[in-house]
Amino acid sequence: MKICRRDILKGFAAGAGGIFIESITPPFQILYAAQDKTLVRREYQRVLLTDENKEPFKSSDIKKNENYIFFYPYHNIPVLLLNLNKTIEPIKVEQSEEVKSYFHPGGIGADKSIVAYVAVCTHEFVRPNQDESLIKYYPLGETSFIYGGDNIICCCAHGSAFDPSNAGNVLQTPAEYPLTTVELEWDSQTDFLYAKALIGWNPPFKEIFKEDGEGKRVTENTTIKKLSDYSKKIIKC
Ligand code: FES
Repeated sequence: MKICRRDILKGFAAGAGGIFIESITPPFQILYAAQDKTLVRREYQRVLLTDENKEPFKSSDIKKNENYIFFYPYHNIPVLLLNLNKTIEPIKVEQSEEVKSYFHPGGIGADKSIVAYVAVCTHEFVRPNQDESLIKYYPLGETSFIYGGDNIICCCAHGSAFDPSNAGNVLQTPAEYPLTTVELEWDSQTDFLYAKALIGWNPPFKEIFKEDGEGKRVTENTTIKKLSDYSKKIIKC
């Protein structure tokens, strides 16, 4: 069910420090229109997830309910990595006007509880940066007041909420599309993790963010950090 709470959001933004972000009019509609909307899985170079010393980050190192971030498949595309503390089964995401049906692969790791989503809000492409993050996961027990619940990913720019246990589907508008899934691979022998593809709604991220000049492909490995170690300020809503 999608619930629009724009009025609540406007009131919140006006009264609570102005995190409301004005609508932007990027050329992404034009860029997106040129994409092949039937392509729901894009394979990129398979890369190892590592710590800051370039040592492999094991799935057992991922703390439950913590927000982690890495960049994939480009150096300017942040990804949220989460251990949801429960088994996430594969799920079929039904066809929409813009995206063909596809299968979310479910969780990986020993408990099948680890998932990853591109941390770029599908509403207006707000993403974490080193100064602040408006998008994060609210684990069980940490309620997002703008959504009225927990165990969700919420973007405080305009209040969109997504379900990380259910393929990143939209729980609350104004976003209309699920978060893009990052397909992970788990080596059960070594416990190492790899990223290897994007699945689902797949806008031309590289072009959208090319003005930041960091849109190079990630190769060989990508570093995992806690979101709180990457962004100086994490906005909650
Ligand atoms: S950019 Fe608008 S809700 Fe995220």
